[in-house]
Amino acid sequence: MRLSVGKPVLVTGAAGFLGSNMVDHLLQEGEMVIGIDNYQTGTPSNLRHLQDHPFFRMIDHNIQSPLPHLPPLRSIYHLACPASPPQYQKDPVDTLAQQQGCRILLSSTSEVYGSPKVHPQPESYWGHVNPFGPRACYDEGKRAAEALAWAFQQSPRCVDVRIARIFNTYGPRLAAGDGRVVSNFVAAALSDTPFVITGDGSATRSFQYVDDCIRGLVALMEMDTTAVPGPVNIGNDAEVTLTELAGVVRRVVNEINGLRGPPIIEYRSRPVDDPQRRRPDLTLAKGTLEWAPVISLEEGLRKTVQWWLTQNPKDHS
Ligand SMILES: NC(=O)c1ccc[n+]([C@@H]2O[C@H](COP(=O)([O-])OP(=O)(O)OC[C@H]3O[C@@H](n4cnc5c(N)ncnc54)[C@H](O)[C@@H]3O)[C@@H](O)[C@H]2O)c1
Repeated sequence: MRLSVGKPVLVTGAAGFLGSNMVDHLLQEGEMVIGIDNYQTGTPSNLRHLQDHPFFRMIDHNIQSPLPHLPPLRSIYHLACPASPPQYQKDPVDTLAQQQGCRILLSSTSEVYGSPKVHPQPESYWGHVNPFGPRACYDEGKRAAEALAWAFQQSPRCVDVRIARIFNTYGPRLAAGDGRVVSNFVAAALSDTPFVITGDGSATRSFQYVDDCIRGLVALMEMDTTAVPGPVNIGNDAEVTLTELAGVVRRVVNEINGLRGPPIIEYRSRPVDDPQRRRPDLTLAKGTLEWAPVISLEEGLRKTVQWWLTQNPKDHS
């Protein structure tokens, strides 16, 4: 553990799911941390336990506006997610990294691969994204953010940028009811209501537990510059269908609640442009970061459900 005598690390989106888990990790490592968030989707309760932490400071700020004066930074984890592409255009956070000459990690996403024609998806695949559709704003926004990061990297002052293409991540502090499939299924299992699956349940995803993700992001940030050639997939390459996921969630909740029986599933029509398959090719991450995901779906879900029950004890019936 490092003692907090050096420059602080900035975490944008600090009140969100990944941001708050990253803040906890960095503080445990003895870093000084400054968090920024405008609470658009994040919540102060994710950071309440750090209210009086001597090495943590939180700033309520919208990162689309010029940033407040900050001390010299060690690095920036850019985990805030502006909701639409125009919000990327000025990008004060990349500009801050350039002014400060500090390293920045951009949280990109597997959505840059769109509905992929290549499986599993390596970083060299350019993707198959519909640029005009209900998902386009997020997918193309992240692609634009990657392009912008590349441009900053090539600029005369050469910003040291790391790009993580994060695949579906779940775990404690994933907001309930935010539309992500794991939180929807856990909520359904705990309230004993039907699991809603869009499509016929055969679509696959690869789910990564949050601690694996945070370790991967830190490994990427700390990696020797010359060894990082561009974007790196951070995910778990165990692929499951949505029907299988429903079964695992039900099993884990049954085990905790002492119940029995399979999930009751309600199938609804599949959303436009919803990818049929998603699995990261982790060759690059495993080879360059000396990192690999280690937490199985079952184990991660157990930790997630147990955390959920501490937040919503009434669900434990
Ligand atoms: N969780 C996943 O499965 C996943 C997968 C791929 C990529 N990502 C990326 O990782 C990052 C973090 O995701 P998350 O799951 O923690 O999401 P989240 O919504 O929980 O966290 C994002 C945080 O950013 C804050 N924010 C949004 N706009 C802001 C603004 N303009 N100014 C200041 N703060 C702002 C929100 O209030 C929130 O606290 C995002 O960039 C997301 O696109 C996440």
